[in-house]
This record gives sequence, C-alpha cells and structure tokens, in this order.
Amino acid sequence: MNYVSSRLLPVKPSASAAVSQAAKAARARGEDVIDLGLGEPDFDTPAHIVEAAYHAAKDGQTRYTPNDGTHALKKAIAAKFLRDNNLLYDLPEIIACNGAKQVIFNALMASLEPDDEVLLCAPYFGQYKDIALILGGAPKAIPCEAASGFKLTPQALEAAITDKTRWLFLNLPSNPAGAVFTKPDLQALGEVLDRHPQVLILSDEIYEHILFDGRDFLSFAAICPQLKHRTLTVNGVSKAYAMTGWRVGYCGGPQPLIKAMTTVQSQISSGVCSIAQAAAAAALEGPQDCVKQFCDAFEGRRNLIVEKIAAIDGLTLDPPGGAFYAYIGCDAFIGATTPDGTVIEDDVAFAGYLLSAAGIASVPGSAYELSPFFRISTATSEDILSQAMDRLAECTRTLARR
Ligand SMILES: Cc1ncc(COP(=O)(O)O)c(C=O)c1O
Repeated sequence: MNYVSSRLLPVKPSASAAVSQAAKAARARGEDVIDLGLGEPDFDTPAHIVEAAYHAAKDGQTRYTPNDGTHALKKAIAAKFLRDNNLLYDLPEIIACNGAKQVIFNALMASLEPDDEVLLCAPYFGQYKDIALILGGAPKAIPCEAASGFKLTPQALEAAITDKTRWLFLNLPSNPAGAVFTKPDLQALGEVLDRHPQVLILSDEIYEHILFDGRDFLSFAAICPQLKHRTLTVNGVSKAYAMTGWRVGYCGGPQPLIKAMTTVQSQISSGVCSIAQAAAAAALEGPQDCVKQFCDAFEGRRNLIVEKIAAIDGLTLDPPGGAFYAYIGCDAFIGATTPDGTVIEDDVAFAGYLLSAAGIASVPGSAYELSPFFRISTATSEDILSQAMDRLAECTRTLARR
C-alpha cells in the first residue's frame, strides 16, 4: 500500500534533520551533547505578552477569528510596518498566519504554477526549497559566496532570471550566514528586478531586530518603493519576541495576493489561534525594550564566537551582521583524516565528526546548499558557547589535514 502522494517525493530528509536525529540518539546513549543546531531564542516570552494572552482568554476571546487575522492584530501589524519599516500597508494588504513559515506556504500555494522558478540565495533557510517543491515549483539556488559576504549580486541575479522565474526570495538579515545588505546593494538588486516585471519578491525580514554593530534595518520594499506592488514583506513574532511556540507570522503585500492567501488560509486552519493573536498584538504594540535586550545578548555571543573561531586554525568566519547563527567555513578540514583513519569527505562528515568526537550538534552547510560550512546557533548562553568552542578547538587539532 502506498500512503504517500507523489507531491512529497521531491522532499528529501534534510541534512539538518539527520544531525538532529544523531544528536538525539547520542543524548539517549547518555553522551554529553551541546546542541548548537537550534533555531529559536533561548529567552522566555516577555511577561507583558503572556499577560495579554491570559487576559484575552479570560475575556472570552476564544472563538474563531477572521481568516486573515483579528482587526486588532492587523492594526498592530500596520502600525509596526509604518513605525519600524516606513511602509504603509492598508489592512486588506495584511494577513496573519500560523508563523512566517505558513505565510510563505500560503504565498506560494496562492501564486505558483507548475515548474515556476523560485530563486533562492544559497545559503538559504531550507524550508524555502521544500515548500516550493511540495507546491510543484522549481527552486533554483544562486550561490552567494563568502567572498561577497554571502550576498546576492546584481550580476548573479540577472543571470539567474528566466521567463519561468516567478519569485525571488530575500532574507534580511539571513539565516544561516547573517548576511546584511546595504542600501546600494538593495537598490542594485531593485534595478535588475525593474527589468523583469514577471518576478515577485518575497522579503523575509523575520530577523530584522537582530542586527549588530549599530546597523539600521532596511526593508526591501522601503528601499525599492517602485517594487512594493510586487513585494511580499514577511515577518513574525517568533524571533524578535522569543515567541516561536505561539505561531504568529504576518506579511504585507499586494491586495490580490493577500486575498488569495486568505482563501488558502481559510482552507487550512482558518484564522490563527485567537489568544496567540492577542499576544502578538501586545508584542508589536507594547514596550520594545525586550527586543533590544535580546539583540544585545545575541551580539555579545556573536562577538564571543568570532573571537574563538579566529583562534582555531583552519576555520573561517567573517562576523555575521545579524541573526543568531554563525556559518563557519571548514574547507581546510575537507580531505582531513580522523584519528581512526576515516577521511572527512564533506561538511556532512565534518559535522558528524564534531558530534561524535566533541559532542557538538551543528548543521552542515549542505543543508543550506553552500558547502563546505557548518552552522551553529548562538541561541544559548555564553558559558555553553564558550565550552563548545573549546571542544571544537580541541577536536579540530585531532584531524590530520591534507
Ligand atoms: C529565515 C526564516 N524564515 C522563517 C522562519 C520561520 O519562522 P516562524 O516561526 O514564524 O514560522 C525561520 C525559522 O527558523 C527562519 O529562519
């Protein structure tokens, strides 16, 4: 009996899932594993947000909500876009979904024809590719090398666009590399996109508040206003307010697309949980000092990692400009031999060795389609990160390089 639709066949188990399973198995054997694979803040949701959820539940906000989100949340989202991004979206141009992930799913479900190309800037958040594949699209990776700060260049974009290109995905700042675009960078991409009116732009700005070295955040549609009618500005409360479990994401974009996404939403889950929406509205409208505190903590950890990695011979890392990951180059160890004589063939093997020899769970670069790298998350305390970096240094010394 075949239970599974052919739609799911192109979706392969990811390298990150493999590492996370191996880490779980090692833990189950009683091994001491430091998990640096995590993609969520290690902080608690701020108390005033939890209070708002409690009051919403007590006050009877427990019924179905509109498919595109409550009026209160959509008003809070519109005000946030204006306050933080200088973007004016009317309420019919906004939808709230169950996380930014569902925003992306709804957008592609609503807009893709079979084999439409979705351009992804490698290294990229793996779910982009899987969502495009499930929905019959053709994800196409554009390599964005470390030498250009892991940023898409206008030349590479121009070369990648074809008649079948439907979407370009941007992630500002990016998971996993922490790449940050300047205003001229975004304007140059905008000039290319001006020449290709068939292309929609999905600007995933979920890490907007986690930005280092005093940088100001630049939202794509604000920098390229002539493309706002073709841009879906995606965001959510997961990362900025430590609310990954509440499942609230949102976006602003062209009204016909938002309307189609609302139809999709109505067929999947209806409106987001009423109580989570009240919490998200409180997050967006309430005091924002928690956002700054989280960012400061992530910046301190970023600094620690950059300093520790610089001291490890063979690993490379330019300081990530934002988000809470480090995408570390391990080219010098590809082809190296472990003490038991095994050759490290690629970054999957390297991440596997980090787990078995040092008890560090990380994600190999192949999960993000740019190798040889491995990603660690800084969503854990400086003490634990420091301990992990010491183990990393020791374990790389055991490898005999080519
Ligand atoms: C780039 C990026 N976009 C979207 C998401 C999903 O966020 P949400 O929790 O809102 O679904 C993540 C989560 O890891 C992410 O890294």
